[in-house]
Amino acid sequence: MNASRDRVHLNHPPKPSFNVEIRVATGSDLESLADPFAPDLSKSQLEARLEESRSGVRTMLVAMTEGRAVGVVSIGGARFQRRGSLRLFALDVGPAYQRNGVGTALINAVENIAPTRNLQTVNLEVATDNTDAIRLYRRLGYRQHGKTVMDRWRRILDDGTTDMIQSPAFVMVKQLDCPSCYRTQKAPSLTPQALLVKPPQPD
Ligand SMILES: CC(C)(COP(=O)(O)OP(=O)(O)OC[C@H]1O[C@@H](n2cnc3c(N)ncnc32)[C@H](O)[C@@H]1OP(=O)(O)O)[C@@H](O)C(=O)NCCC(=O)NCCS
Repeated sequence: MNASRDRVHLNHPPKPSFNVEIRVATGSDLESLADPFAPDLSKSQLEARLEESRSGVRTMLVAMTEGRAVGVVSIGGARFQRRGSLRLFALDVGPAYQRNGVGTALINAVENIAPTRNLQTVNLEVATDNTDAIRLYRRLGYRQHGKTVMDRWRRILDDGTTDMIQSPAFVMVKQLDCPSCYRTQKAPSLTPQALLVKPPQPD
């Protein structure tokens, strides 16, 4: 794999530039993940995501900058699967790192993986009142698709108790511009060391 091609370099003035590296999360990321996402995501919640990633229910990617985890996203999962499409979910950027292009880089990473699985679209659900995320997805080419669905997920709190969160959500889908999607490609290694993202194009 060509590391210089696949490494992400984000350099958006006027914010400090972030060199973000995106790779598959491992169990040993738990400690570095917990702080940036507190208190919105509990350590137990992140641990459950990592366990699902380890067991293959989802693949969790982590965005790292200077050894710190700053964002996560998952692909796959058990729900809302669409034929020919890769599902993106559980996208979170640590509040202190938002609006620096990390979310965009994570979404780009997912879009780069889809063709390697011969999938032509990326799909996601977003709460109908999550206007910031909806604006970001729209800017990146995602369009609302079909009816509003009821999204449900289990929130795990720091004391270990759980509750069910449910909210109406838009389904959004992006058709990828990837003629090669229709040819079978060899999937890249999803080792923890794999660098998955090409540098984003300048605005
Ligand atoms: C939604 C979320 C993932 C976005 O992550 P992010 O890292 O802030 O995303 P980006 O920085 O790529 O883009 C956010 C905005 O910042 C802008 N931006 C990116 N880099 C920038 C920079 N260097 N300087 C100024 N603005 C910048 C983007 O253009 C974008 O603008 P827009 O809102 O007008 O589209 C994040 O806000 C989050 O974790 N929210 C809570 C959880 C959530 O809602 N997840 C989505 C569930 S579906």
